[in-house]
Amino acid sequence: MTDAVRLRPFVVAIDGPAAAGKGTLALRLAEALGLPHLDTGLLYRAIGKLMAERGFDLDDPLLAGQFAEALDPEDLKRGDLRGREAGELASRVAVHPPVRAALVQFQRDFAARAPGAVLDGRDIGTVICPQADVKIFVTASPEVRARRRTDELLAKGREVAYETILAETKERDERDSGRAVAPLKPAEDAVVLDTSSLDRDDAFVAAMAIVAERRAEESA
Ligand code: CDP
Repeated sequence: MTDAVRLRPFVVAIDGPAAAGKGTLALRLAEALGLPHLDTGLLYRAIGKLMAERGFDLDDPLLAGQFAEALDPEDLKRGDLRGREAGELASRVAVHPPVRAALVQFQRDFAARAPGAVLDGRDIGTVICPQADVKIFVTASPEVRARRRTDELLAKGREVAYETILAETKERDERDSGRAVAPLKPAEDAVVLDTSSLDRDDAFVAAMAIVAERRAEESA
């Protein structure tokens, strides 16, 4: 950030459901603002993957919590975390309160370092950084999100059916929104950005306008 008089870190929270475009958006915002970016989904994905490959029960809250406590930032660099399977495993371990509790401090420390950060996930604006300077809830209809994800997978040469991806998308939405702890929902002071009819560039321009507005309000 070039704002020399600002002493507090500038924190941007991007939340939203699967395949709404929040990851790409968060990355572009971070680059444009000169801030580090944390894709918090990777934390849950790494725990799910580590447990599954060692044959542990992902539905055991205490065991999953122990994996979360022991998570090494190096684990986030694994190359196999971005796929569909890891996403499913992530949303299963993400329902457990001990898992979420163990990850709070890591995420808050990341956000607290100068000059600030862009974090994307499900509960950044509501639980992790309720004081974030900017909160954007990126969403799109399940049909649009499933179409995007299907097209991404087809482009990578995977054989997938739109109907399967739509069912998976809805199932993940239900699990993420229905859980007791840190359910997926917009913070009261979040700006909802519906990308159903926006392409990536339009979404980026709209998000930058939201950031600019908040910065102008803060410095007024
Ligand atoms: O990119 P996509 O939205 O598909 O997935 P992700 O952001 O990597 O998140 C994968 C799963 O991790 C989500 O479905 C959530 O269950 C969980 N998650 C969470 O509970 N809280 C976060 N801050 C980030 C992810």
